[in-house]
Amino acid sequence: MQEVAKQIAAAADAVRQRWDITPRAGIVLGSGLADLAEKIDVDQSLDYTEIPHFPRTTALGHKGRLVCGHLADVPVVAFQGRFHLYEGYTAQQAAQPTRLSRALGADTLIVSNAAGGVNPRYKVGDVMVIDDQINLLFNNPLIGVNDDDLGPRFPDMSAPYDLDLQETATKIARQHNFPLHRGVYLAMLGPTYETRAEYRMARYLGADVVGMSTVPEVIAARHADMRVLGLSTITNVGSPDAPNGTSGHDVIAAAKLATDKLTKIVQGVVATLSD
Ligand code: 6GU
Repeated sequence: MQEVAKQIAAAADAVRQRWDITPRAGIVLGSGLADLAEKIDVDQSLDYTEIPHFPRTTALGHKGRLVCGHLADVPVVAFQGRFHLYEGYTAQQAAQPTRLSRALGADTLIVSNAAGGVNPRYKVGDVMVIDDQINLLFNNPLIGVNDDDLGPRFPDMSAPYDLDLQETATKIARQHNFPLHRGVYLAMLGPTYETRAEYRMARYLGADVVGMSTVPEVIAARHADMRVLGLSTITNVGSPDAPNGTSGHDVIAAAKLATDKLTKIVQGVVATLSD
């Protein structure tokens, strides 16, 4: 077994010693969205420090805890706190939650994030289901020798986000009477927010939102042939014309505004996984 696979196997063993159930989904909770975990009937909760080879989180609004339990009666593992490249983690470390979910037996990954809106129609507090991504991290968790047990050397990325899951999410939003955008997530390295010229660039490139996460987790998930649902909360809107500044605290406060919508979507989608 290769090094990464060994580390993940050790992490999975540590989790299984505390919770011996196969999760249907792994859920990665982004900035300010950790409260979603409160809807989970918690069986076990592990601090990241208790999981071998798992880094600690340092980011604002991220807790660093793995919650194992049931959401809508479906077994899930939820990661409260992710690893961003801007914190100095490698892309491989950023992919650990995906790989641990997979090693525990989950075949679906649900990722959420806080993002800046670049589509002029998007407003603070809106939610977007991601249908495609642009990797401007200039990094990739699959760089290095490929572990053929984890996935192929050159994974297909023509449809990283599962269409059926997007449809289900859209249906749930409609049932609850709130709009759900569908669009493209562009990942920038951060930790600086975008300049006005960079917002303009993001728009030219075809992005609807910009963020600093998600892409490494999703690449690792597609490598492992997991189905992916991605949800962005619009925490601020960038404009190349009228600059309104962005702060990390504003972003977290805005993320909490959308927690309710996000919770409904994730609960609703997870409920369909039992079928
Ligand atoms: Cl405006 N940009 C980036 N890169 N990440 C963000 C954001 C903006 N808002 C929340 N996260």
